[in-house]
This record gives sequence, C-alpha cells and structure tokens, in this order.
Amino acid sequence: MPTSPPTLRAALQDYTPPPYLIDSVHLNFLLGDTVTRVESCMQVLPNHAASERPPLFLHGCEDVKLVAVKVNGESLPVEQYEVESSGLTLKTPPAGAFELEVHTDLHPDQNTSLEGLYTSGGNFCTQCEAEGFRGITFFMDRPDVMAKYTTRIEADKAACPVLLSNGNLVGSGEAEGGRHFTVWEDPFRKPCYLFALVAGDLCMKEDTFTTCSGRSVALRIFTRAHDIGRVDFAMQSLKRSMKWDEEVFGLEYDLDLFNIVAVDDFNMGAMENKSLNIFNSRLVLATPDTATDGDFGRIEGVVGHEYFHNWTGNRVTCRDWFQLTLKEGLTVYRDQEFSADMNSRPVRRVEDVCRLRAAQFQEDNGPMAHPIRPESYIKMDNFYTLTVYEKGAEVIRLYEAVLGKAGFRKGMDLYFQRHDGQAVTCDDFLAAMADANGEDLSALAKWYSQAGTPRLSVAAEYSPADKTYTLRFKQASCGARRLLLPPTPGQPTKDPVLIPVRMGLLAPDGGEVPLKLRGGEMLGSEAVLRVTKAEQEFVFEGVEQAPVPSLLRGFSAPVHMTVEGQSDEDLLHLLAHDTDSFNRWEAGHVLAKKLMRALYAAAKDSNEVGGRGLGGTGMVCVYARVDGAFKAFAISLPENSELMDKIPEADPILLHEVREFLTRQLAARLRPELEAAVAENDSAPGEQYEFTAAACARRALKNKALGYLAALGDPGVTEQLLHRFRGATNMTDEINALAALDRAGGGSALPAALTGFYQKWEQEPLVLLKWLALQAGSNVAGNVAAVRRLMAHPAFHITNPNSCYSLFLGFARSPVNFHAADGSGYEFMGDVVLQLDKINHQVASRMVSAFTTFKNYDQQRQALMRAQLQRIMDTEGLSDNVFEIVSKSLK
Ligand code: PHE
Ligand code: ZN
Repeated sequence: MPTSPPTLRAALQDYTPPPYLIDSVHLNFLLGDTVTRVESCMQVLPNHAASERPPLFLHGCEDVKLVAVKVNGESLPVEQYEVESSGLTLKTPPAGAFELEVHTDLHPDQNTSLEGLYTSGGNFCTQCEAEGFRGITFFMDRPDVMAKYTTRIEADKAACPVLLSNGNLVGSGEAEGGRHFTVWEDPFRKPCYLFALVAGDLCMKEDTFTTCSGRSVALRIFTRAHDIGRVDFAMQSLKRSMKWDEEVFGLEYDLDLFNIVAVDDFNMGAMENKSLNIFNSRLVLATPDTATDGDFGRIEGVVGHEYFHNWTGNRVTCRDWFQLTLKEGLTVYRDQEFSADMNSRPVRRVEDVCRLRAAQFQEDNGPMAHPIRPESYIKMDNFYTLTVYEKGAEVIRLYEAVLGKAGFRKGMDLYFQRHDGQAVTCDDFLAAMADANGEDLSALAKWYSQAGTPRLSVAAEYSPADKTYTLRFKQASCGARRLLLPPTPGQPTKDPVLIPVRMGLLAPDGGEVPLKLRGGEMLGSEAVLRVTKAEQEFVFEGVEQAPVPSLLRGFSAPVHMTVEGQSDEDLLHLLAHDTDSFNRWEAGHVLAKKLMRALYAAAKDSNEVGGRGLGGTGMVCVYARVDGAFKAFAISLPENSELMDKIPEADPILLHEVREFLTRQLAARLRPELEAAVAENDSAPGEQYEFTAAACARRALKNKALGYLAALGDPGVTEQLLHRFRGATNMTDEINALAALDRAGGGSALPAALTGFYQKWEQEPLVLLKWLALQAGSNVAGNVAAVRRLMAHPAFHITNPNSCYSLFLGFARSPVNFHAADGSGYEFMGDVVLQLDKINHQVASRMVSAFTTFKNYDQQRQALMRAQLQRIMDTEGLSDNVFEIVSKSLK
C-alpha cells in the first residue's frame, strides 16, 4: 500500500446523482472453508440523458478477486472493462436497461478488518456500513442506489446449520456434498450498506410481538450455544422499543420477522441491517451476575437504537455519507428519549450531557473538529463520531425545543410522508419540520455546517425602579476581540446560530416568577427564548424582586454558557429551589468545577496540592441538598476533559492529584454521610437484582460512596471492600468493589482479588473485558509494563476490537501512566497504533484518538505526543484511516 497521501477524498460539494441505478440484485453466496464465491446478478437502469452513454463504475476493493463479468448473459470481452483495486469500470454499457452479472472470490477467514464478509468464532457474518459491501462484490456502493435484494446462501450443513439474510425466508433445501441453502427476499428497497448475511452454528431464542395493527412479528435472537441463556433482557428491550415507537411516533414494524445476531468480533456497537441486526455481543448478552447496571442500560439503548433505525435510516435513508447525522443524530435522539421514558428521565439527561461535554466538546475543540454534516473525508469510517451522533442528537433536540413536542411530531410525520423509500438530505429533514409547522427554521441550518461549540454569555440586570429584569445574551466568549465561536480547522470565522434557551426565574424565596416579556403575553413560569443574534436582549416585566435566573434548562442547546457574575449563593439557590432537575444538578456541577479549577490554580502556583487548605465545603453543601437519584451524581467530580477547557497547557498529573486530594477531603468530611449512604442503600440479604431506575440509583450511590471511602486508605474500609467483593451477588457490586480495592491501593489483597476474579470468570470473555480495563486504567505508577504483559495474557486477543478497546483505551484513560512524564505511555500507544494498523484499520484509527488532544497539555507533553504522531506518520504502509487522523492532528 502506498504511503503517499490518499488521493480519494470525498467532498460534499461534489455530489452528483448516480449515472445508473440498480433496480434489483440476486446474490448467490457459496460459502467455503477458505474460498467463498459470490455471484451477483444486477438489473441495471440508466439514470442519465438518453443521448449519453457514461461508463459504469462499480466500487471494489483489493481483497475481492474478479472471476467473471457478463452483460445480458454474455461474457464481457476484456477490452470492454477495466479492473483496478478501487473498482470495475464498464467502458460502454448497453443503452437502456441491462443485466450485469459479476462473480467474485473472497477469503473471509483471512479478513481481520471485520468489514465486508468475515468470520467470527467460526461463523460467517458481514458488516457493510459504510463502504464494506464493495469488499464482497463489485457494486455501486453508495446509499442513493437502492435495490431489491434476493439472497441465496449455500454452505456446509454441519458447520453452518443457520443461514440468514435480510427480509423473508422464501426457500430452502439440500445441496450436494452435505451442503444446504436458504433463499431470502427483502421486499423493501435498500442501499447496500444495509445488506447482511450470517451463517454458522448458532442457537436461537424466539418471542413474538403483536403490532398495533394486529400483525404478529417473530422476534429471534441468535448467539453461540454458550450464550443463549443471556438474551432475555435484550428481547424485552426489543419488545419495549417496538411498542414505544408505535406509541410515541406512530411507527409500526413492517416485516413478519426481526432477527438479532450477537457476534464477539465487531468494530462498533451494533448494526441496523434490514431485519437482521448484527450486534457486538457485549450489547446483547446480560445477566445480573455478568453485566453491570451500565451494561443493562446500554443494551436497552442500543437495542432500541438499532430497532428505531428501521424507520430513521432504513425506510428513509441518507443520500450520501455526509448526511450521516440525518439517520444517526435522529436515531440517537430517539434512543435517548426511549431510555428516558423507560428509566429516570432526569438521570438519563445528566448522563447524556456529561458524555457530550466530556467528550464531544473536546472533539469540537481539536484537530478533527467537523460540523455534524462534515464537508469532506478521506475515510468515512473516521466520521462515526461523537459529533455526528451525540451533537447530532442535540441538534434534533433543538427542533423539539423550538417547536414543542407536538410540533416535532408533526414534522416527523411529514418527513415520513414525503420521504418513505427515499435517500435524502439533512435539508429535507429541516424542510419537513419547517413546513409541517409553518415556521421558518432556516436559522437552524447553520448547526449543520459550522463546527465547534458555540459560546454563549449572559449578563443580567434588575431595575427595582421599573421592576424589569433584563437578560443580555452574547454569542461570544469573554473579550470583544474573540470570535463568536472559536475557529476550527478550515472554518476561521463563524456566524451566530439559533440557540433556544429554556429558562425560568426564581424569586428570593425560591418561588417561580411568572414570566412576561416586554410587550408580550404572560408566558407561565417557563419560556424558551430564541437567541439568534450575536447580541440580543430580553426584558421581563413585573418582576417584584431581583431573581436568580435558571438558564438553559435541560441543557436546551449544546453550548458553553457563562452567566456573568453568577455567585456561589446563586448556585446554591438554584440547587435548593430550581424546578428543573437538570439545572439543580448543574448548579452543583458548576460549583464543583469552580472548586477544582481553583485548587488546580493554587497547586500550580504553590507547587503543593491543597496546600492552602481549600476544602470541599461547597461540595459538602451540594451533597446535603441533593436527593434521590441525584446524590450519586452530586458527589461525582467533573471529568478532567471538561475542566481542561479553561486550563491552558494543563498538567494532567497535577489535575489528577487535585482530584485525588479533593476526593480524600470529601471522603473525610462526608464520612458519616457516606457510611450512612452505604448502609441505607445496601441490598437486603437475598434481594433479587432488578434493573429499575430506583434500584440502579441505590446501587450507584452505594458504590460511589464506597469509592470515596476507599480513598481514605483505611484498613477497615479495605477489609469491608474485600468482604463485599467476595459476597457480591451481581456484577455491578462485584466490579465496583474490585475497582474500589484498586482505588484503595489494594495492598496485598488486590492481586489475590484480581486472580480470584479471573479464575471465576475465565470462561466469560465479556466479563474479562472488565478485568482487562480495570487493570489497564490503574493509576499505580509504572503500570505500563503490566499492560504490556497483559497483551500476552490468554484473556487478551489483539484481533478482537473489544479486547483492544478495554486494554488500550482503558490505559489511555489513566492520567498517571498514559501521561507519564518520561513519555513511556505515549510510546506504548504509538506501538499499539502501528501494530493494530496491520490488523484492523478502524480499530487502529480509534487508538490514535488518545493523541488528538495533545495541544491541551503542557509543552513537554505536547512535544512527546507530537513525536509519537510523527513517528506514526513516518511509517511505511499506513492505512488511510490512521493517515487521516494523524495528518490532521499534526497540521
Ligand atoms: N450504523 C450503526 C449504528 O449507529 C453503527 C455502525 C457504523 C456499525 C458502521 C458498524 C459500522 O447503529
Ligand atoms: Zn445508528
């Protein structure tokens, strides 16, 4: 492979409709031990002016060997076509409609990229999004080519008793030599990225769902025999999501069969292939003894997510890959709403916002910053990002904030009415929302084209004389010279965007102030202000006393907001009285951020962490004033990545020490409360595990409290943790106790506990992922050597993406070891990227993400990280995936 910069760079502005369409395709897969033959027969239609005869280009890839090409049943003479590794060109296709047959040979067992057709644990499966279908056969691999598929699969009957593809089973039978076949027909047109095939030795669990119109749908989950007892929760989640989509969006399932297959080797979380979803097994398999509350929550969300794609993604799909957020942002929004309805809505919102701010804001602030609708890419795989997904979902939520729930639903209805069966753009979505509500939403369009996180500052002024309260918004950071939005690569200047600010005002007694804008009607106690200009003010009338504003309720827009002059008293007032639970939590969170930044600044000056004795008084107040499900969050310290936004050239180890100091302070000052929290929220002897919002909140608080207590380094606490670890009756408590032991320094107990855990779960690769991640992320100095050793451990498999994510990304999360001053952590990750790039480009490029934030760190670390990026860049034979991220980072 060449090291020169890739020449194939796709750009949004270059979009042209396909010159041909594929009306239908018949695929015949002859699966073999080493070689698989794929016979594809396509009905091709011209999609160009009758006077033209443009060449037909079918995408391919170097691992696909062309065996035969026929046009209308006749072998095509060699001079009529050209094969390169990038594809197959028919120089002068016939005029009008014609039949094109292409035969190819593949080696799925040698395919470690996990794209196209590959094997996992001896079973065959496919992954075609975004551009994997071209790894199976030559095809117009673009989402605006939507065809009807018929798929025949033939394989050895003993090795592959189960043969699945999209749509309905229309035929099956025996074939020669102990082989058998099935034939599947998908009645819905689809782009090839939604094609799927699974063949192997799998067990199945079945259930049924009766749709709102009374049709019965067979639901089947397939796993290896060993895992089939762990699919009940995923099945229940599927049924709940089917019902929810009917109730909330009026969307009914459209086939009589819905299949889910769990595979261990999968690059991503899961894939929404039409009626044959393929899942990373960690997002299907769960029982209380092997999966944590977090795992259960993720399974529910992802099962919902993939199911919801049937309408938002499959029935209405994307015109081109730049529109990815059209299906992903919308579907993440839908899965978040589903999870919120199934669990505690405020808790889910806090979790989603934390993730967005800790990770997506960082992406927006780095070398890979891109709009939710990117404008160009080298490898599309690199754009399955937090920005496209998570920020994309926040942009969908903006429509909801502006139009209200009912208006949003009207827009969705019109979107499906107009575009069912089509491949469309984000502009089409915006137009449907606008037209359904008779609103001009063009002010939202900028959210699709501008990268970066807008900064919103607010100044307030109360006039006792005329009882008015004025809010002045500026879409700018501090200082007049600063731009509206910080520049991002390729976008030096930015325009203001529409920011819906959901808000209320709290009176000094904590009551809600009735809202009335100057010259307007009474608005009740909550309003959504539409901030659209660089500077804009809103004047409220009839405000009897100076209020405390509660702004951006529910995090109504993905922005950095600064409220000028906001005091700790204001924050404590919000914490005590706000009716918006998100903002109550946010008030405590802002206090914690202020405290940590102050501690960091003091430590930086005095070279001594906590030297001035700054304690956690504010946090102690927060803990006292927050109740229920929020208590666990209330004592969670903000992520370092969120803090670093305002700390230039941060020293990650110093920040870590500040966190440790504050944790110990809080643990000491809150010790009686924390011990009470453990006692009050402990499970009763013999209590059954339940995945409910209430039970999860109790476990979360108990385990959070134990984590704090562990920081005290008290032998009594360590003893208690060991006892809890041994006696745990569910994985949530078991892994948390182990993590707390690690936190407590563990002493001699830790190695034995780790060994015990390994022996207990030796046969459970998913549980061992937690074991790997826990050790990899340890902050014990010099741990890099232990992580290198773990690479040789039988629990680790370098060809398995989950293994790599646990071990390597787990390691990169350790401030002490990844950011070790001698550069040993960086060097290790550099080694990892280069080793993995020979196995799996997508996994390798995800590892590079550990380096992309290097500009946030101090000079020495920047130099060390940059040196690793340069070393990767200088390596022969780099994949396009890694090249794209490394080269953009070094710019
Ligand atoms: N489309 C999948 C989802 O979000 C994600 C995915 C992308 C999976 C690419 C595999 C490959 O549900
Ligand atoms: Zn998705």
